[in-house]
Amino acid sequence: MGEKPMRIHGGDREARIDFSSNLNPLGPPKTVLEILATCFSQRVLEKYPDYTYRDLKRSLARFYRCKEEYIVPTAGAGEAINLAVIASKARRVYVLEPSYGEYEDLSKALGLEYRPIFYRRTSDGFHIDLSDLQKPCSDRDGLIVITNPSNPLGLYIDRERLFSYLSNCSARSLVDEAYIELCSRCPIEVGGEIPKNIVVVRSLTKWLSLPGLRLGFLYTNDIDLLERVEALRQPWNVNSLAECLGKNISVYEQELKSFIQRSREYIDSERERVRKILESLGAKVFESVTNFLLIKIDGGRQIVEKLREMGLALRDCSSFRGLDSNYIRIAIRSPRENNELVEALKIVMGVG
Ligand SMILES: Cc1ncc(COP(=O)(O)O)c(C=O)c1O
Repeated sequence: MGEKPMRIHGGDREARIDFSSNLNPLGPPKTVLEILATCFSQRVLEKYPDYTYRDLKRSLARFYRCKEEYIVPTAGAGEAINLAVIASKARRVYVLEPSYGEYEDLSKALGLEYRPIFYRRTSDGFHIDLSDLQKPCSDRDGLIVITNPSNPLGLYIDRERLFSYLSNCSARSLVDEAYIELCSRCPIEVGGEIPKNIVVVRSLTKWLSLPGLRLGFLYTNDIDLLERVEALRQPWNVNSLAECLGKNISVYEQELKSFIQRSREYIDSERERVRKILESLGAKVFESVTNFLLIKIDGGRQIVEKLREMGLALRDCSSFRGLDSNYIRIAIRSPRENNELVEALKIVMGVG
């Protein structure tokens, strides 16, 4: 076993309440369940999907205001990440850490040099000075990876400012926007022409709260990269049910965009309510713009273990670069579930 165990993820299938995977607390929306039921009754699973995914790309392009010819639909953002990293032909992968662990695992599995770049740590939290990216930026064989909003920090770097900086780099960048729909100050649109050296990764599993369906996409204006991705992906990488749902998201665009709006409003207000309570219990709670909170608390690991015995799963952050077992990531869920967490925390911490 190396310095860090491989492939650690949130998501606890056995927990009574799972705060360890970051899904939309309002989802999945009724409209989407109805679309899926229709897809199912049309027996879509009995046919291969259209391996060109023409209609799916068209629908995603309409919904996300971008160009269908630059989209590659994938089985979740996870597959988009794999394809983009492999097709990038990078030799060095610079990940802005702490970040989603797959990037390090994948780089190492591919024999690429993994080089972490760290958010700066100040007394009030984490922040990035884009000038910290200067060295990776000048690496022609480099791939800079940024999750925006960041998992696990919940921070957002203004997209326009970030893209403008990265567009001047010799390195390629992969910007993973898996949580962008759940952040009220973030744009939903991908935008047609993005800088040629940037690959955007999107997920439909987070905001639709359908992680089992596996739907996401990769977006790039770089035709050579697109061709490599097309050649690498397995022909029917998105299953027929996910394809059928994706083809319908532009038909129900208005409803789904108001669902995103409602989700964002709920997340913002509930996250701030939970933040205040956690602070009153003595935890250090970091700034977040999205559907999870990173907290720091002495004895974090023991707290996570005791809560798990009570059926509540939280994400111990010791596997994240730059964090340790005193950091915990908590997904925002319903008020009832969040209250149950707070009451359990009080018991475990012996306060209140
Ligand atoms: C930053 C980030 N990117 C990608 C993914 C994978 O998402 P998907 O379920 O769409 O594959 C996750 C899942 O946790 C994530 O946190």
